[in-house]
Order: sequence, then structure tokens, then C-alpha cells
Amino acid sequence: MIAQQIQTAAYLFASILFILSLGSLSSQESAKRGVFYGIVGMIIAIIATVLGDGVQGHTYIITAIAIASVIGVLLARRVEMTSMPQLVAILHSFVGLAAVLVGFGSYLDPKTHSLAPTEHSIHLVEVFIGVFIGALTFTGSIIAWGKLEGKVRSKPLLYPGRHLVNISLVLISIVLGVMFSMAEGTDGLIYLYIMTAISCFIGVMLVMAIGGADMPVVVSMLNSYSGWAASAAGFMLGNDLLIVTGALVGSSGAILSIIMCEAMNRSFFSVIFGGFGNAPAASGDVKAMEGEVTSITHEETATLLKEAKSLVIVPGYGMAVAKAQYPIHEMVQVLRKAGKKVRFAIHPVAGRLPGHMNVLLAEANVPYDIVLEMDEINEDLPDTDVVMVIGANDVVNPGAQDDPSSPIYGMPVIEAWKAEKVIVMKRSMSVGYAGVENPLFYKPNTDMLYGDAKESVEKILGFLRPKV
Ligand code: TAP
Repeated sequence: MIAQQIQTAAYLFASILFILSLGSLSSQESAKRGVFYGIVGMIIAIIATVLGDGVQGHTYIITAIAIASVIGVLLARRVEMTSMPQLVAILHSFVGLAAVLVGFGSYLDPKTHSLAPTEHSIHLVEVFIGVFIGALTFTGSIIAWGKLEGKVRSKPLLYPGRHLVNISLVLISIVLGVMFSMAEGTDGLIYLYIMTAISCFIGVMLVMAIGGADMPVVVSMLNSYSGWAASAAGFMLGNDLLIVTGALVGSSGAILSIIMCEAMNRSFFSVIFGGFGNAPAASGDVKAMEGEVTSITHEETATLLKEAKSLVIVPGYGMAVAKAQYPIHEMVQVLRKAGKKVRFAIHPVAGRLPGHMNVLLAEANVPYDIVLEMDEINEDLPDTDVVMVIGANDVVNPGAQDDPSSPIYGMPVIEAWKAEKVIVMKRSMSVGYAGVENPLFYKPNTDMLYGDAKESVEKILGFLRPKV
């Protein structure tokens, strides 16, 4: 329907918009603009593809897009901010499944069998690799969704010789790939089926082997895989835009995974190839907690805040669950009006998705200039009067620095305990996502303020408002 040149120009324009979108998403101020660029780019990409030459069955395509759009809008409106990582993980699985289906469809398409011999061989390699990455992404993302949703246990599933099993399965897949590319007509279908099953199994085992604290890397890694799967589908379909878009997603996901690994002081390859997350705990004795747990009331906390000159708030996943960001912002406004220095300390993996805390605080209109990254604030903590840990746990665990038996040993953390006083606001003594005890709660300068984070902040505000 639309001329080849117009389609190429539209694809180029959409690619530019996707690049601008990724660039803008890197900072909170420009993130909204980034989303807008992404939406416009995707609309252009869909229209240019659907109206392109050789595309038939427009009624079916438009009906499918309409149904999927309605489901997408409903899901996105209903999903809680705390469930966002699960949604992202399950969406990655769809990309993987799409790549598998495109691979099978493309292999069975009679047109591809009349290609010139070299082109046909290249096409078969594209199909095989695309289906392999797609199947792995599909099952890996489902397991990641299960782990984040709490339906699959977050402890790593480790069995002796798992690396050998995985390597053997990859080698078997390579042999199957050779047999597949040498098969006549569609006789190679059986090899494709076997490899798909193997790849699905590898996807499950790869993510099952990863411990709770390392899940952030898995989510970004699957994001990267889904990009490469889309890129592979682009090669199979001969669609340049899909190749470019997939490569953008694949490489940005890979860069994000490396950044996350650096932030957590993990080796990228160790995380990916086998539950590095819980290895130390499996090999050593877990250190017993020393000290006594003391608690504090809301009124006493308010008095402490009134006396303090400098305050640092460390938000975590519990703030997201309680939706406490709004009263927290109000509390911060009251305290700042009273002349206190109040800042936020954000850990790179606080919450359940990259930038989770930043998004929530931005949503509550907390000024960006008082929201600092872990590295920026850690050195100021010894001179801080009060640190309020609101719904955070793993990201303030001193065991990450001084307990080699801890599963999160080596992960940089916010050194809350170095402040003069620490108030930890959570509902109980229960553990965080990594499932480890937190010695911070037992420190002499720490007091626990039990209760839902939002209710607690509102109660503290009640004591602060009239007098400050
Ligand atoms: P966590 O260590 O998971 O701790 C959150 C704490 O919030 C819990 O101990 C819980 O204790 C408390 N909580 C829950 N609901 C609450 C409520 N309504 N009010 C007050 N407190 C509440 O969180 P974190 O410190 O943010 O660390 C994040 C963890 O998740 C890390 O291990 C990280 O590796 C992992 N993770 C991160 C990501 C990304 S990308 N950020 C992705 C996947 C996994 P109570 O039950 O006692 O209240």
C-alpha cells in the first residue's frame, strides 16, 4: 500500500524517536518526554509496517491490535506500582513467545524455501537462533514473574553439576542446529521442536538458580534477551526497524544489567550463570544476631525529629507497598520549613525495579535536588543526626559489609548505622526480599517504629504539625 521509500523514511524516523526516547528516559526531568517519543515512534512503526507492501489480512491485524490495546490499557491502569516489575517480566515473556512463533511461522512459510541456497542457509540460522533466544526469554521471564509475584520461591535452586548440564544442553542445541540447517524442506521441524524444549528448560533453570537479592539483574537481563529476540525476529521477517529496535532494547538492557551488577558489586557472569546470590550462605554458618532490639513510639520519634538538625530518609520497598510517599513529602516539607536539612538516600536496587523509589518520590512531587544516590550520601551519614529507614531492609543491612556468610555480602549498602540515631519503620522484624536477618535492627543507636509506613508517618505528622 505505501511505497517502499516512504516506509523506509518512516522506519528511520521511528528509530530516531526510539533513540531519543531512551536518551530522555535516563533522567527524571525528561522521562515523560521520553515516554512520549517512544509512543509516537511505536505508532509510526506499526502504521508503516501494517500498510507496507506484502502485508495482507488487515482486518485481522487491526482487530488483534484493538483487542491487545484494550487489554494493555486496562492492565496498565489497574496494575499497582508495587506489581510493576512482575508486569515488566511477563511482558518480556510475550516478546520471547512472539520470537518463537515468528521463527516457526517463518520456517514453515513456503516462500522462504524458494530462496537462493546461501540466503536460505542464513535464514535457517536466523530462525534457529531466534527461536532459541525467544524460548529462553519466554520461560525465564515466566519464572522471574513467579519469583517477583511470590509464586515461585525466591531461594536459588542449586543442584550439583548444573553448569555441566547447562553447557551440555547448549552443545546439544548447537548439534541440533547443524542438523536443522542440513535438513531438506521442512524436515528440520523435529530438531526445532527439540531445541525449543531444551531452550525452555535452560530458561527455567537459569532463573531458578538466581537468588532473591540478584533478581534486579535478572529482570534487566531478560529485558536485554527480549530485545535480542525481537532483533532476531526482525532478521527473520526482513524488517529493519525491528532489528534496530531489538538491538536498542537488547544493548540498553545489557548495559543496565552491567550497571546493576556494578552497583551490587556482583560479577555479571556469576549472577547469570548460577545463583551466585546465595552461595556464601550455603557454604558458611550464618552469623547470629548480637544486641537487643529496642522500639520507639510515634511521639518520641516526632520529638527526635524536632531536635535533629540533619535528617536522611532511606525509602525501600515497604514505602511503595504502604504508598507512604505522599505523607512523607508532607513531613519533609514541615521539617524543611522548620529549618532542618532533609535529604533522601536512594539505593540503586531499593524497591523492586530500577528507579522504583525515584519514580514514587517524583510522583509525590519531592524536589529532585534533595534525592541523592547512595554514593553521594554515604559519606555524609556519620554527620547526620537521624536516619529514618522507611520500609527498607536489605539496602541498609550492615551484614553486606561485615558478615562473609551473608548472601548479600559484598553488596554496597546505605550505611545508616553510622548516623547518630536510626529509626527503622516497618511492621515487624521480618526479613526483606533477600531473606536475610538485618543486624541494623540490633544496633544500640537503632530504634524500631513498628507499623504500616503510611500510618506511622501520618501519626508522626500529627505530632509535628501544630508545634513546628
Ligand atoms: P526489602 O529488603 O525487600 O525490605 C522491604 C521491607 O519493607 C520488608 O522488610 C517489610 O518488613 C517492609 N514493609 C513491607 N510492607 C510495609 C508496609 N506496609 N509498611 C512498612 N514496612 C513495610 O526492600 P529494600 O530494602 O527496598 O531492598 C530491595 C530488595 O529487593 C533487595 O534485596 C533487591 O535486590 C531486591 N530486588 C530489587 C529489584 C530492583 S530492580 N530494585 C528487583 C527485584 C528484587 P515488614 O514485613 O516487617 O513490614
